[in-house]
Amino acid sequence: MLNFQFKNPTKILFGKGQLSNLAQLIPAAAKVLMIYGGGSIFRNGIYDSVKNALSGHTVIEFGGITANPEYEVLLKAVDIIKSEKITYLLGVGGGSVIDGTKFLSIASCYEGTNPWDILSKKLVPERNIPFGTVLTLPGTGSEMNPRAVITRSETHEKLSIKDDHLFPVFSILDPSVIRSVPRNQLANGLADSFMHVLEQYLTYPVGALLQDRFAESILQTIINVAPQIMSDASNYEAACDFIWSSTLALNDLIAQGVPSDWTIHKIGHELTAIHHIDHARTLAILAGSYYRYTFEAKKEKLAQYAASVWHVRQGTIEEMASEAIEHTVAFFHSLDIQTQLSMYTSDYQATAATIAETFEQRGWTALGERNNITPADVLEIVKQSY
Ligand code: NZQ
Ligand code: ZN
Repeated sequence: MLNFQFKNPTKILFGKGQLSNLAQLIPAAAKVLMIYGGGSIFRNGIYDSVKNALSGHTVIEFGGITANPEYEVLLKAVDIIKSEKITYLLGVGGGSVIDGTKFLSIASCYEGTNPWDILSKKLVPERNIPFGTVLTLPGTGSEMNPRAVITRSETHEKLSIKDDHLFPVFSILDPSVIRSVPRNQLANGLADSFMHVLEQYLTYPVGALLQDRFAESILQTIINVAPQIMSDASNYEAACDFIWSSTLALNDLIAQGVPSDWTIHKIGHELTAIHHIDHARTLAILAGSYYRYTFEAKKEKLAQYAASVWHVRQGTIEEMASEAIEHTVAFFHSLDIQTQLSMYTSDYQATAATIAETFEQRGWTALGERNNITPADVLEIVKQSY
């Protein structure tokens, strides 16, 4: 096991009815900006519940955060936070709203001239506005981690940031919220959280037995509940297992003491920036080609994954590792997620070259757990996902 330092300060309130505690979580004197997306919270009643819970607080609203939160929209919210002297932020939504809220928490304290530098140059201010979240769509894990991913359509960029200021103070996870989530978004949440575990697990063995068991149990739980969630999102017990699995998949617990990869996510963000494909689907497109391309380096963990998660009992390491990849792709298909880029766009031919060139320009020349994935490798991996 590798050395590590771990702290996760986010308070989780899990279960039905936890929204009623919202008022106690935010200081009474706070001036709150409630941040939400395109309006799903009006249709499923979450807006009313939050407003009722905060009836004793001063609350201003900012709606319209887009899926893949858009930088230009967020800048408008920064102006409001400054002019209204907001002291607390509350993000009510999925990963996009929560990531947008995280960005606002630091961008409104940023004193430089170009807030995009926060993402492109990792210039994070020393202070931030405290924020909490009410999760409405499980998958990204943003509710309990210090990461955010922001999109700038104007330049076709989608960049991520990780910083301790981006931990929510609290997150409310009421599993009954997923009743209103459309089927394709449920599939996205299941696939995204599954891939979060694989990015931190499919590397090379370092003897971290407990982290491996954690990772395998999250994968097994997602596989078990996926058919129930897809057929009936009002199944509360399944929703509980889904939400808690997706939170634990990316609250950095399973990453401690082990190598992580994240190459698929880095390439996936480019597929979203170029082709506007949902985040989770970009990961499903790339997983098969990436694990086939890195087969030699990853075959031991792939074989372990085959045995522990997919119950493959026979075969050489290579045979088991290959089966694991096939099972993974089949899992995405079971969620009605297509796994080839050409199924999403007819305009894909230049994609691999564009992404490889972008990575070269950014100096992203040594990706993966062994720092050996070059832009030339990225070119091949993306081509093989066509
Ligand atoms: O905008 P509204 O109207 O709220 O509708 C949303 C949106 O259209 C809808 N939705 C959310 N909760 C709902 C609901 N519809 C009905 N009922 C509900 N209860 O779902 C749509 C998608 O929402 P979005 O937040 O965009 O999805 P997701 O949670 O998948 O977030 C995706 C974003 O998170 C980033 C992705 O890159 C992408 O930008 N990620 C963030 C990570 C992090 N911070 O740790 C890690 C991930 O790997 C990922 O990169
Ligand atoms: Zn993800």
